[in-house]
Amino acid sequence: MTEKPFIKTVERHFLERKGRNPHATTEFCWLLSGITLATKIIASQIQRAGLLEIVGETGKVNVQGEEVQKLDVIANDTLVRCLGYRGNIGLLVSEEDEEPHVIQDATAAGKYTVLFDPLDGSSNINANVNIGTIFSILQHDPNAGGDIMAHVLQPGSKQVAAGYVIYGSSTVLAYTAGYGVHMFTLDPSIGAFVLAQENVRMPTLGKTYSVNEANSRQFPSGVQKYLDWVKTEEAGYSSRYIGSLVADFHRTLMRGGVFLYPPTKKAPSGKLRLLYEANPLAFVAEQAGGMASDGQQRILDKKPKAMHERTPLIIGSRDEVDRVLYFMKG
Ligand code: AHG
Ligand code: MN
Ligand code: MN
Repeated sequence: MTEKPFIKTVERHFLERKGRNPHATTEFCWLLSGITLATKIIASQIQRAGLLEIVGETGKVNVQGEEVQKLDVIANDTLVRCLGYRGNIGLLVSEEDEEPHVIQDATAAGKYTVLFDPLDGSSNINANVNIGTIFSILQHDPNAGGDIMAHVLQPGSKQVAAGYVIYGSSTVLAYTAGYGVHMFTLDPSIGAFVLAQENVRMPTLGKTYSVNEANSRQFPSGVQKYLDWVKTEEAGYSSRYIGSLVADFHRTLMRGGVFLYPPTKKAPSGKLRLLYEANPLAFVAEQAGGMASDGQQRILDKKPKAMHERTPLIIGSRDEVDRVLYFMKG
């Protein structure tokens, strides 16, 4: 009987890249373990949310102008605490905080910046719908010295690693470090994320489109033309929209299709944030053979101008994104 391979954790999987990925070091794995620890704690809070009276709003509004949920704060504090003492982190950037957390100055040992959306889809918490955490890791720009924003405002193509955790029927972590997309399932019996699938590939086609149709009259005309076409009988598509980006993206990654959050009157630059929503998921999408655009250019090529800047997002199967772009150029 062939021996069952010993479990492979995220850290061990990443370290196996030693020699091929310059970042595959034990110190980087110590950083990754800050993310896995934090998301295990967040998962345990979410699973018991109703019992711990942590569902609902805090009554505060964040830098995004959005109502802050109690679990947003818990997730954010957990990530800041778990990452705050990883010796190689200089800066933390969170959707929930206006300014970066300076853990140590960039020129010292702190050579990585971790950017995150601590809880994505938080409006869905009290409906018990899948939510997630999205993370992105940059290495400090050697020419930036003490200029904090220069380290933060790097294009997504500079990401060292990125991924997300989806808190659903099971808790799954997906990450890429530029060598494919790999998935780990949290095994509650041992409290570890265990390798479940390596080199995940996004289907090049998928007859599922995902958009908030309530905004469709505000979309650019090319997107409206696409939405007219996709509803025709011969196109044969179905519509799925969960309202949590991580859940809509994970379904698109696993089954193919396209997710769109185009510009609207209320959000002329789109609603989703470039640094810690679009960039990390674009890195994962491309590493799985998919595509991510803002309608004009590749998401990963965008040069950020502000930490919380928003971007339109069209992400998913290569041929499906291409088709949306074709209608937008029409
Ligand atoms: P967050 O909860 O981090 O603010 O993100 C919410 C985002 C994203 O998860 C989702 O795709 C989008 O908001 C849904 O927006 P609409 O409700 O406008 O469709
Ligand atoms: Mn979000
Ligand atoms: Mn969020």
